[in-house]
Amino acid sequence: MQNVLYNHKFMSGFLSSDELEAYAPAVAQAEKSLSAKDGLGNDYLGWLDLPKRIGKDAVSAINDKAQEIRAKADVLICVGIGGSYLGTKGAIEFLSPTFEDLRKPRVIFAGHTINSDYLTDLLELVKDKEVAVNVISKSGTTTEPAIAFRIIRQWMEQRYGRKEAAARIVATTDPVVGALRKLAKEEGYAAFEIPADVGGRFSVMTPVGLFPMAVAGIDIAKLLEGAVSAYDFCSGESIEKNMAGRYAAVRNILFRKGYTTEVMATFQPQLHFFCEWWKQLSGESEGKDGTGIFPAGLDYTTDLHSLGQWMQEGVRNVFETFMILKNTASTMAVPKFEDDSDDLNYLAGRSFEDINDKAFQGTILAHLDGGVPSATLTLQDRSETTLGQLFYFFQKSVALSGYILRVNPFDQPGVEAYKKNMFALLGKKGFEKQAEALLGRVKDSF
Ligand code: PA5
Repeated sequence: MQNVLYNHKFMSGFLSSDELEAYAPAVAQAEKSLSAKDGLGNDYLGWLDLPKRIGKDAVSAINDKAQEIRAKADVLICVGIGGSYLGTKGAIEFLSPTFEDLRKPRVIFAGHTINSDYLTDLLELVKDKEVAVNVISKSGTTTEPAIAFRIIRQWMEQRYGRKEAAARIVATTDPVVGALRKLAKEEGYAAFEIPADVGGRFSVMTPVGLFPMAVAGIDIAKLLEGAVSAYDFCSGESIEKNMAGRYAAVRNILFRKGYTTEVMATFQPQLHFFCEWWKQLSGESEGKDGTGIFPAGLDYTTDLHSLGQWMQEGVRNVFETFMILKNTASTMAVPKFEDDSDDLNYLAGRSFEDINDKAFQGTILAHLDGGVPSATLTLQDRSETTLGQLFYFFQKSVALSGYILRVNPFDQPGVEAYKKNMFALLGKKGFEKQAEALLGRVKDSF
């Protein structure tokens, strides 16, 4: 069953069927390059068929380790950043109870900021709890998670002793290279492998995401099945059939017309972090060589009371994709009050979902009238199957979209610029020359 449905029919005033048809060959070419693995970044295409390829034994190994951790820990601290963080966070927020206190065990995150207060509060939060740690880094050398892990590892060793701490730490990293792989071997941490041909932001359906999700109680086999079921409507050279291709074509047509920002608008707070994942996937894959759609996320109706004004009447360089959830996990209706002192009885008996739906309809129509090309992405429910389809749909569409834009969607050379400067400013060996120049520039400026 297809649980995710893209619909661009509201766009008719902004984009014609002829324009879409004219993009069909570009989509077909991009699809061909992905299947033949002869396009840019073709050594990073492992994610394409990974949900099918991963195999029952690998899933069982992840589930077994997750069960072991669930039995002994109240809290799993996941240490990672970017692709080693956002997908898991997005999945847990989408599938679990809304408030962290209702989740057992609780999965919390570290290593995605450089902030002492955050880590101090985190260690205070877990001080009376049973703790396990999953340190995740494909390269094994990323500074933010690496320094956070030093603090957490030290705390674990003081709390449990080195041997028991090691039994409570799981590393997820490259099969061979990197400081984390070396450390895991030396300390005897259980370790999962991130396939070498899967880049960070495409790694959510590897142990990077699957292990912490399994600890959180998510059915990862179902998630993978969901992703496999998305192959059907996200593959092929026809844009009628290939929904990922159609979405990629629509985005590129709008981009070339000057709509350079895409807003992913959600009407459910549980989708906020999924959007953060999408922002990374889209921004890092497309924003290079002086091109690329800027991905932004808005949480409605909350943001209708802040950025809603800008969306309605601001610069017309933005198009919008509304993510709509058909079925929430529970439902509530507005109660009827005899005195009707707040004049709300006209809504009595109406569900929050019905009211939210009218808010969505009102918003999309208002934004279309305000000059914002808008489409919808309807999700069936908050289930693993839906999420697996959603992950795959976006991965596939961003890969196609990147090829249509003629960029390599699988690298991120721009991320290195700040890192090199930071290393130089921190006095890392090998960066002495840059340090001289940079220190001169910052000397009297900050
Ligand atoms: O997509 C990417 O490759 C990056 O955004 C990485 O996910 C991020 O930089 C974290 O890297 P690592 O997992 O090597 O620590």
